[in-house]
Amino acid sequence: MFLTNVLNESDCQPIKKSYDQWYTFMDKNVEFWLPDSELHTKNHCARVLLLALLIGHQKGLSHEEKDTLGMAAAFHDSRRLNDGVDKGHGIRAAEYYKDFCREHELPYDVQTYYITSYHDQDDSFGLSEITNSPVVRERGVLLYKIFKDADALDRFRLGPNALNVNMLRTEEAHRLVDFAKDLLQKSNETNS
Ligand SMILES: [Fe+2]
Ligand SMILES: [Fe+2]
Repeated sequence: MFLTNVLNESDCQPIKKSYDQWYTFMDKNVEFWLPDSELHTKNHCARVLLLALLIGHQKGLSHEEKDTLGMAAAFHDSRRLNDGVDKGHGIRAAEYYKDFCREHELPYDVQTYYITSYHDQDDSFGLSEITNSPVVRERGVLLYKIFKDADALDRFRLGPNALNVNMLRTEEAHRLVDFAKDLLQKSNETNS
């Protein structure tokens, strides 16, 4: 299992089972349009998954809410056309997620759809779409912020100065900056 070395650390014990479940799901089921991408790999999604679950755990999210984050991590960068900003890959990934649920008779989670859909948009736009949606519960705003922070914390793969910590939305993410650097380094070391 990718990142096993990190997951065996005590901080990660509470989220290990959930990580294993969603990592296995992604590895087995989710097809990426850019399989040779260097920046938006399944390994990137695995680190986002781990970071989102950690922040979610520290926020005291329910099991269901953590599943929402897990599913979003698995799908969010699967429909990229290039490694740039590629605005629109969020909605394409969300549609892929929705189709996947229909085709595989999986329960569809509208919050996963919204988070995935707007993760590539500015907060002001994403948050207003989520807030104005009649189907997304109030918790959707918190889940969106957690997910975007987890995705942002993996920006160190782009360079040592690629993360602007002032852009982080949650206290928990601020406290995980060093952890995220370490996570990247360890994941490069194992490269499995
Ligand atoms: Fe993305
Ligand atoms: Fe991402």
